[in-house]
Amino acid sequence: MNGVRIAPSILSADFARLADEIARIEEGGADWVHVDVMDGHFVPNLTYGVKVIETVRRITTLPLDVHLMVEKPESFFDSFALAGASTLTIHTEVSPHLQRQLCRIKELGCMAGAAINPSTPLDAVSEVARDLDLLLVMTVNPGYGGQSFIEHSVDKVRRARALLDVAGSSALIEVDGGINRDTINRVWRAGADTFVAGHAVFGASDPGAEITALRQLCMEVV
Ligand code: DX5
Ligand code: ZN
Repeated sequence: MNGVRIAPSILSADFARLADEIARIEEGGADWVHVDVMDGHFVPNLTYGVKVIETVRRITTLPLDVHLMVEKPESFFDSFALAGASTLTIHTEVSPHLQRQLCRIKELGCMAGAAINPSTPLDAVSEVARDLDLLLVMTVNPGYGGQSFIEHSVDKVRRARALLDVAGSSALIEVDGGINRDTINRVWRAGADTFVAGHAVFGASDPGAEITALRQLCMEVV
């Protein structure tokens, strides 16, 4: 898969108007809808589960990019896949049987992603590089929207791209946290191709224009 994907995170959407918010990003050219599932254990925050995934599935045709910030993520694979998840991304920090878990996600017909926190070395995914459809390099510590981008992530993305290339993996590289007009170009040039943006998109007066601006910044070689 080539090109750039913009994946607005509904964590920053107005849930009283969720259908309208999703329609606006769909009309505005979003590629995926990013759904942040948090359990109050792996991360301090608590968000939503299968009911919200089912609901979002009914109101958009866009792929649902489900980011599982939960302990024991495998207990949610079947129900989330059935609810309409397109991608299931699990954290290496809570996935001791990562290779088996990735295979199970693919058996269920979803793209399989592995996420690494800012403090987690890339080594955590080196042995499963070819099992991955997506590598999510967290550019903030997960748990909340609207945090500041961690600059060290740029170099980490560059090393992630090299690792996947050497392994012969065609996995996408997604970045998540603090992605906005000031940061997106740097991580794109480092090798990221899939960009989660919560506050930047849903906090904008015109989310569609913001998606376009972010996408254009990925075309600029500076
Ligand atoms: C953070 C979540 C993100 C979050 C990003 O733990 O995984 O997806 O919604 O939000 P922004 O783009 O506002 O940093
Ligand atoms: Zn996320």
